[in-house]
Amino acid sequence: METLRMVTVVAPVNIAVIKYWGKRDENLILPLNGSISGTLSTNQMCAKTTVSFSRNFTRNRIWLNGVEETFENRRLINCLNEVRRRAKEQGKISPEELEYNVHICSVNNFPTAAGLASSAAGYACLVASLSKLYQLDGDISSIARQGSGSACRSIYGGFVEWIAGDKNDGTDSCAVQVVDSNHWNEMRVLILVVSENKKKTGSTAGMQTSVATSELLKTRVSQVVPKRLADIKQAIYNKDFKTFADITMQDSNQFHAVCLDTYPPLVYMSEVSHAISDLIHQINEEAGKTIVAYTFDAGPNACLYLLEEHVPLVLAAVNHVFPTTQNADTYFTGIPVTLDSQLEKK
Ligand code: DP6
Repeated sequence: METLRMVTVVAPVNIAVIKYWGKRDENLILPLNGSISGTLSTNQMCAKTTVSFSRNFTRNRIWLNGVEETFENRRLINCLNEVRRRAKEQGKISPEELEYNVHICSVNNFPTAAGLASSAAGYACLVASLSKLYQLDGDISSIARQGSGSACRSIYGGFVEWIAGDKNDGTDSCAVQVVDSNHWNEMRVLILVVSENKKKTGSTAGMQTSVATSELLKTRVSQVVPKRLADIKQAIYNKDFKTFADITMQDSNQFHAVCLDTYPPLVYMSEVSHAISDLIHQINEEAGKTIVAYTFDAGPNACLYLLEEHVPLVLAAVNHVFPTTQNADTYFTGIPVTLDSQLEKK
């Protein structure tokens, strides 16, 4: 019998156009509302994880970006336990191998925790690599969800919906592909890095406070998001950029309005972020039609969705208004990223 088995997987980040914000179950990570994102291609912003198990390993160990961490993180342990539970059920791994300790080694090629969905790529990668190691069949997005909610969407390429589900055990809360990356292959994402600093309040804590204090979040969940999900999916199927862009920007704005409605307020966008949003509206006005959409997660960095033909114009405008030397903490890397179609590439 083999004594060491090893698997390496690369997983990209995803950028939400309908935001996930608020949980109905903290432990299983069940969301209050469904969400939709585009998964970026694996050659740009991604996590790379190698996992192995061996009868010779004396304990579980994990290294993140080259530094060993203690193996105590509840979410990490939940993911490993769930993979092993399913592996036991599916029976492809021997009972002896199921007992072996694991070594996990993960690296990101972009700033961690700066609102650039690093946990999404990280947990998608962890769960995909463990699932391969333990030879799991079936959907694994509901395992990735237990690492970090948004991670479940990085399991699939193209545009992906995280179905909120309504069961208490979370078995119906998983990701499904809306369309693959070939469907709208002119779509690009520009990431404008405003700051690489770690965010003040992480998403997990931030959304807990929003659930506890924001009235606007309740209205958003019950009255706004369901229609937006249906409408943006239709826009994606029809490749209707204007509708797609309008909904994306409105949803980002409402998410940040919820953050400000949270008490004490969560301020994720900076002055530069607001200047970028102004610039995007100005570009669209001058173009006489909507050619680019912004969206901001729990940090100041901007993600722009646009079609390939408009990348040069938008990049030129961004570089003109925000020369890289303007402010030491402010620089822009315009990365025209395509959407990805598959998760696993070694
Ligand atoms: C603003 O998935 O990081 O990026 O489930 O607590 O780990 P946890 O939160 P996380 O939240 C991401 C929120 C968001 C919006 C989104 O990606 O939908």
